[in-house]
Amino acid sequence: MAAVPVNPALEGLGAYFTETLAPPPPGEAFDFSIGDPEEPTPPFVRQALVDAVEPVSSYPTATGRPGLRRAVADWLARRHGVEVDPDLNVLPSAGSKEAIFHTPLVVVDPGGARRHVLWGAPGYPVYGRGALLAGGMSDPIALRDAEGWRLSLSELAPERLERACLAWLNYPHNPTGATVDVDWFREQLAVARRYGILLASDECYQELWFDEPAPSLLEAADGDLTGLLTFVSLSKRSGMTGYRSGAIIGDPALIGRLRALRPNLGTASPTFVQAAATAAWQDQSHVDRRREVFRAKRRVVLPFLTDAGLQVSGSAATFYVWFRAPGDDDLAYANALRAIGIVVSPGRSFGPGGEGWLRLALVPSVDRCRRAVAVWRDAVDAGRLPG
Ligand SMILES: Cc1ncc(COP(=O)(O)O)c(C=O)c1O
Repeated sequence: MAAVPVNPALEGLGAYFTETLAPPPPGEAFDFSIGDPEEPTPPFVRQALVDAVEPVSSYPTATGRPGLRRAVADWLARRHGVEVDPDLNVLPSAGSKEAIFHTPLVVVDPGGARRHVLWGAPGYPVYGRGALLAGGMSDPIALRDAEGWRLSLSELAPERLERACLAWLNYPHNPTGATVDVDWFREQLAVARRYGILLASDECYQELWFDEPAPSLLEAADGDLTGLLTFVSLSKRSGMTGYRSGAIIGDPALIGRLRALRPNLGTASPTFVQAAATAAWQDQSHVDRRREVFRAKRRVVLPFLTDAGLQVSGSAATFYVWFRAPGDDDLAYANALRAIGIVVSPGRSFGPGGEGWLRLALVPSVDRCRRAVAVWRDAVDAGRLPG
């Protein structure tokens, strides 16, 4: 049989990071590698889902139930002081990942001169992969410790901005936990608008702040949403990673393009998930309680790292802690930690610029964070970890 052709973009993707790290030894392991915390979904959310299961199953729509769009708009007004029209400015998504992946499809012209997609690296790999599979180019911008891991569009060469159609922001930031303020969003928006670049802000961690509430790009827009979209999610906010529910909010013209595209994708969340999502957006108290759980984990882990002489950077928000690997060798330190049963992510798994750093996802319970820290401290004291 003649060979079936392959999409060259698929070959260019590389694997989702599967660097061969040594397996943890048998016995107790503490997994800080995957951003999926073990705290349960609030009971009222689970109940809302169960109550919404209908005897007859029917296709959900890509525009979603009006009550869900309204709940997102109400949350936005309460949390960020931004008023939007639920019908013109809001579209539900099946979590933010698929929405991020599919968004280049509404701006990338595969044959055109402006098909580059900018994103900060280290960062979430889906920004670059969505660009490539839409026929565009992935254009990662190196983020640096010295600049607080903040991306700055104004520092890029004009030629680089001229060939871009889309720029991704993600603050609070995965993997570094870095944060930004509204003025910083304003600066990026001004540059993006000057060059006609869609500014897309992935805000799935915005409820996981610890000092000051994290702002949204929507606050920087001062009522004019032209040229911008934000992506929000219930995964981290409400402990609903398995439900797959989020929303896209922003420019009515761009939302209109997405409304035309998205019925083709088959990603609309089931109506019972939308009912659970509506309940989750309407309540803020469970979010505040979740934040306190992560704050307690931070109180266990952060002082220990500093005491152990490890350099912590970023780590102001999200449930990630980002620290420099001794000897700048993230793979060696990740392997040394695995040998004592502690699984972390080497920074290089988040793209160029991540080498030399490590990410801890504070997913184990507070108690297990304490046990892991005790094991880690013993190993440091006994000289069993590279310094
Ligand atoms: C930066 C970032 N964006 C988006 C997502 C996707 O989240 P979800 O699809 O669960 O909303 C993740 C998940 O870890 C993430 O880290």
